[in-house]
Amino acid sequence: MSERADVVELAKRRGFFFAAAEAYGGAAGFYTFGPEGAALKHNVEAAWRDRFALKEDNEEIAAPTIMPEPVFEASGHLDTFDDMLVECAECGESHRADHLVEGATDLEDAEALEPEEVADLIAENDLACPNCGADLGGQAVEEFNLMFQTSIGPGSGQPGYLRPETAQGIFVEFPRLKEYARGKLPFGVTQIGPAYRNEISPRRGLIRVRELTQAELEQFIDPEEDEPPLETVEDVELRLYAVPDQQEEAPAGEGYQTVTVREAVDGNIVGSDWIAYYLGVAQEWYERIGLDTEQLRFRQHLPGERAHYASDCWDAEAKVESAGGDWIEIAGISSRGDYDLSKHAEGSGENFTVFKQYDESKSVRQATVDPDMSVLGPEFGGDAGAVAEALADLAERDPDAFEQDAVTVTADGEAYEVDTDDANFEVVEETEAGEHITPHVIEPSFGVDRTVYALIDHGLQRDELGGEARDYLSLAPEMAPTDVAVFPLVSNHEPLLDTADEVLSTLRGAGFDATRDDSGSIGRRYRRQDEVGTPFCVTVDRDGLEDEPQTVTLRDRDTGAQARIPTGELVGQLEAIRDGEADFEALLSRYETVETAE
Ligand code: GAP
Repeated sequence: MSERADVVELAKRRGFFFAAAEAYGGAAGFYTFGPEGAALKHNVEAAWRDRFALKEDNEEIAAPTIMPEPVFEASGHLDTFDDMLVECAECGESHRADHLVEGATDLEDAEALEPEEVADLIAENDLACPNCGADLGGQAVEEFNLMFQTSIGPGSGQPGYLRPETAQGIFVEFPRLKEYARGKLPFGVTQIGPAYRNEISPRRGLIRVRELTQAELEQFIDPEEDEPPLETVEDVELRLYAVPDQQEEAPAGEGYQTVTVREAVDGNIVGSDWIAYYLGVAQEWYERIGLDTEQLRFRQHLPGERAHYASDCWDAEAKVESAGGDWIEIAGISSRGDYDLSKHAEGSGENFTVFKQYDESKSVRQATVDPDMSVLGPEFGGDAGAVAEALADLAERDPDAFEQDAVTVTADGEAYEVDTDDANFEVVEETEAGEHITPHVIEPSFGVDRTVYALIDHGLQRDELGGEARDYLSLAPEMAPTDVAVFPLVSNHEPLLDTADEVLSTLRGAGFDATRDDSGSIGRRYRRQDEVGTPFCVTVDRDGLEDEPQTVTLRDRDTGAQARIPTGELVGQLEAIRDGEADFEALLSRYETVETAE
């Protein structure tokens, strides 16, 4: 059998996604989701919201996509959100320098190298411009910041940036969000929406775009107290490709190991229970949305590969046939520690902590000094202020030192002896009910565009039906843009058209996304729906109208099998299949099967 259809060609022809603004020549890295793609994307987002917001009892917010410069100064994106750029002197095309090196050598994390080292590797390996073939040796490699800059307001305005990740919109609102959570950890906040990255070389359909959609959860925890409900996912099997496996000289097979979440934690393969928990949740979610989990693994970031904020990160990677069989990162689950909240506290001067109440109040000794400057001044001259500060510091560090008649402190590199009486040292007993802590963050971050792309890539199949090759998109029913298509067998027979309309409105009334199609032969109509992944087609024919009670045929997308069922039972049967209480096999054994030409 010939190869299946091309994903990008099918996506364009059937209205899943296509390059945006093509009428004006477009701009690389921007895609429009057509009617089928927008519906599929919406279904992915709805399933994500259901699992990561609703079922986890997290709150969803919607923050602006443009934020002022200080936000990204504090977050570190202005300084470090860079990729390495090499420009071809011949044709002017820009390339990701680290990707070129990785493609031509055994190196897997060239982005961890300095730009000069990458430039040397380009020269040593005689790398040429992928666009025109000119030699890239000797070309400078530069850091290129990926954020899109803009100006807020008229005139020179205030510098702002389009957010490069939805996460920052959650972090900057933490002072309000913690109030909403009544100051109690753990709590999680989600956001689904666009992020913008001025990628050096956007490519491969939706895989590397400049406007992307992320679905992110920021889980705020007290790292010393809070534990995830690991038991709920402990038996979920994961394919883990940990750092040591990646560093093996010749990893066996694909290199990953298959373990349960519990085994991953107990065997210390995954160091954080929270990351392990979300790996389990992610695996279950991918199964639910119908990703081919035989083509899914979780790969731990190599040390030089981690983002500036992450102490550990595991990427969900899907093997994508239409991307040359490469493993493509579709999500990342990382441990961001207290990096972001601490940086925003520092940058804004606001309070990004929560008050952690102790189980029992603690009694603490608070030592203070109030040096007599009328004594210190004449004695130590211009150094008196520094001596006073050193005394305060000593009182905090080592209050017992003040038990002696005199203490020695160092100020500006010199030692000074001070009579304890002149320091006016005092210790007060205070009761502390708790302390202010900066929460840590665990972040599952999903790329919606890449998920959509992987679902299409994994779902696209070719087989032979009725003696003809056909392409069909085997999407999970929950993801399919259309739940059911209704066809009047012929388009010039009023009773058939009327009955088709009645069936259509009954299905819609029951909450199904149903469509009517009466153009072209029945075979062509089946093919159209197969290619956009519609799981079921209902055909209204003359035989059925004459049946008592009236019947229609119901066809299954993946097998092409058909059953004739009473029209009045259609909704109930489809609901049973949708709710997982029945499958099409059961339907075939219950009703008369139909052999019709495809
Ligand atoms: N807040 C964390 C964060 O943004 P990331 O790994 O940079 O982490 C998360 O991005 C996900 O967003 C990735 O796993 C990927 O699925 C998606 N993504 C990132 N850049 C993308 C791009 N240029 N085009 C399409 N998807 C992208």
